[in-house]
Amino acid sequence: MSTSDASSELVLGLLSDALGEFLSGEVLSAKLGLAPTEVYRQIESLRAQGYRIDSRGRAGYRLVSVPDRLTPLEIEPFLTTHDLGRELHHRAVIDSTNALANILASEGAFHGEAVVAEHQSEGRGRRGRTWISPPEQNIYLSVILRPDLPALRAPELTFVAGVAIAESLRTAFNLPVDLKWPNDLLVNGLKLAGILTELSASGDRIGYVVLGLGLNVNMEAADFPAEIASTATSLRIELGQPLDRPLLCAALLSSLEVWYDRWLEEGFGPVREMWQALSATLQRPVRIHLGDDVQGFDGVAEGIDERGSLLVRRANGVLERVVAGEVVHLRPLKHSSSE
Ligand code: BTN
Repeated sequence: MSTSDASSELVLGLLSDALGEFLSGEVLSAKLGLAPTEVYRQIESLRAQGYRIDSRGRAGYRLVSVPDRLTPLEIEPFLTTHDLGRELHHRAVIDSTNALANILASEGAFHGEAVVAEHQSEGRGRRGRTWISPPEQNIYLSVILRPDLPALRAPELTFVAGVAIAESLRTAFNLPVDLKWPNDLLVNGLKLAGILTELSASGDRIGYVVLGLGLNVNMEAADFPAEIASTATSLRIELGQPLDRPLLCAALLSSLEVWYDRWLEEGFGPVREMWQALSATLQRPVRIHLGDDVQGFDGVAEGIDERGSLLVRRANGVLERVVAGEVVHLRPLKHSSSE
């Protein structure tokens, strides 16, 4: 980072800490040890990059809006984390943020390093599916995590992330975001976001986990391709207005870290409890698909166990433990439509 980048980042940091209030040129100069002309030069440089900064005589400067880009310059001023996203790799286009995060982690990237992209050309979904990733509309984020724990605990991280993201969106927007086993976030039955965790084990321990999140933010109904148009949604569709992606990305990283730290300190119990409280899957009839060549079954989802497996009660009373599979929510009505 050049000295000029560093100065504009500091100016931006102070303006964003002021939460939309004016900060005088003298205060900025004094706090940053920069000459007033240099402060002015940095303000102009930020404006040229797309920041809207009002100026008013002696009152000084006020940050009105930030450009809709997910670069560290936009996200860092809003970050409250100690590790997550502190080292942020931004790409305008990439095949998959999970793919790059895996490469960086295998080359020794630290816990908390994250990759964020404006556009993915080969976004990965679960079970070999594609994650639709149009440019500059959504959040595509992958975080490298290095918990010193047995590899068999890695799947719990999907639930940590689900709870963190759902809670953060519920708090920020008062939106009824709930969770579908194992990795979907839904609003009124429509898919808003998905999580893809990939483990690299070192013997029977976790070497690292790449935790990928795809969140539909500013897509409009017409932007969804036909194959998911009736099953997907975005925050913009649900809230009726576009959202500030950098702010949102910082909030998601913060919530993720709060729940990650809690998981490390207290174990899976609180995560499991919260996941069950926010679940759209429990206490409803479900159809379980176990794979192309394996016979699935129907039942009622009753909970998740201490490792995150789905507990499903069959009509004959037998309780099944589903470790991996696909869940279809069945409507408890006469017709057999599903979501
Ligand atoms: C799913 O619901 O199938 C999981 C989708 C996960 C998508 C995200 S987007 C960011 C990260 N990079 C990827 O290639 N996939 C994940």
